[in-house]
Amino acid sequence: MPSTQNPRTYRVKSFGCQMNVYDGERMAELLTDQGIAAAPEGEEADLVVFNTCHIREKAAEKVYSDIGRLRREDGSSPLIAVAGCVAQAEGDEIMRRSPAVKMVVGPQAYHRLPDMIREATAGRRVTDTDMPAETKFDALPARNQGGRRRSGPTAFLTVQEGCDKFCTYCVVPYTRGAEVSRPHAALMDEARRLIDAGAREIMLLGQNVNAWYGEDARGRRIGLDGLIRELADIPELARIRYTTSHPNDMTEALIAAHGDVEKLMPFLHLPVQAGSDRVLRAMNRSHTAESYLKVLDRVRAVRPDIALSGDFIVGFPGETDADFEDTLRLVDAVGYAQCFSFKYSPRAGTPAATMEDQIPAEVMTERIVRLQAALGRDQTAFNVASVGKTCQVLVERKGKLPGQWLGKSPWLQSVYFDGDVAVGDMVTVELTEGGYNAVSARLLSPVAA
Ligand code: SAH
Ligand code: SF4
Ligand code: F3S
Repeated sequence: MPSTQNPRTYRVKSFGCQMNVYDGERMAELLTDQGIAAAPEGEEADLVVFNTCHIREKAAEKVYSDIGRLRREDGSSPLIAVAGCVAQAEGDEIMRRSPAVKMVVGPQAYHRLPDMIREATAGRRVTDTDMPAETKFDALPARNQGGRRRSGPTAFLTVQEGCDKFCTYCVVPYTRGAEVSRPHAALMDEARRLIDAGAREIMLLGQNVNAWYGEDARGRRIGLDGLIRELADIPELARIRYTTSHPNDMTEALIAAHGDVEKLMPFLHLPVQAGSDRVLRAMNRSHTAESYLKVLDRVRAVRPDIALSGDFIVGFPGETDADFEDTLRLVDAVGYAQCFSFKYSPRAGTPAATMEDQIPAEVMTERIVRLQAALGRDQTAFNVASVGKTCQVLVERKGKLPGQWLGKSPWLQSVYFDGDVAVGDMVTVELTEGGYNAVSARLLSPVAA
């Protein structure tokens, strides 16, 4: 096979969840360490990494069309690597279907990317979807070594990976592997580097982030609440968030942290998926609608202003009209600030894919339209109800209009305002107008303490 030249520029395109975004950032760092530079916007890169998502069918199919789009007029392509969850689940098929793909690398193996690039430039096609016993985190160079990269005001930090819950519809336990918590010392070290590089807010990430546990510097076993409390002691860090959590791992200690750790933002993303216990059982969720609502009550008791978010699946096999009404009832009972909702998508290899009573497409469509109308109504109501509040906003970027800025409220609302500020500032605003997607505000003090 012919060998190609060493790539000089790269582009990493990440799809799916925030953990994939985190992985994409780490891959970019690895490539930069190899002397490969990020390709300028609009220019073709020598090496393209598709960091893919397998969660629903549409997401997975996207990979193939994206690969096709890179083909040049003479039929050649840049060096293409497929990473992420589709690589893990369908690596062999990708290699068969797409000759342009030279590397397939799973989510637990991407620290080996530099070696794979050497192989690929020598003309060999390589696949690595191992889940090695030593974690990739041990093999990756320490993040942001030498402080080369500036961090945005919000930085992602993966603390936990994988899932042992095996919901019957979900590919994550297969694509990401078993639940693993990263060691406390490594996380504190990485947090420090992110803050030194400019982060003011840290978003702790995991498929079941609240299942994280570790040993602190004194050898005591701690949970996510302990990690949050320690991070909160870092003076330069202003805000802490975490996502995504499982209802069964909402411990008393974590709930208590919502009540007394000021830097822990009043926002909780807690997926429920459905409001019918029959459906929840078939999904293997191991919680009921009532136990879920009880968790929310306990969080609200210590943090009355908490903004709630969730995930829903409509049209799970066997879901009846009555089951779906239970979902709508649960939505009404909670009053979510925002939510994600999806049509059920059968995934090969998961138990639900072969269950009887798969729901027809038109029924799914009708249900998701109704669900999203209800969720949209509540989201708007939440934003409207926040008008008049004074709060701090972490400035993220310029808005579309001249002089306009965009930041996030403590409740994760997108807030637009005018003023003389800079990215990364924490400013005080008064919320003046609420809509479906965003809230407008008036700047009160330029820079808060
Ligand atoms: N670990 C997280 C979520 C991971 S996937 C958790 O349990 O909360 C993100 C969301 O995608 C899920 O919460 C679920 O709502 C949705 N999802 C997962 N598998 C799906 C499938 N097969 N079809 C449709 N939606 C799905
Ligand atoms: Fe998937 Fe369920 Fe695990 Fe979430 S808890 S990642 S939905 S199996
Ligand atoms: Fe998608 Fe994998 Fe995340 S399937 S949602 S990228 S864990």
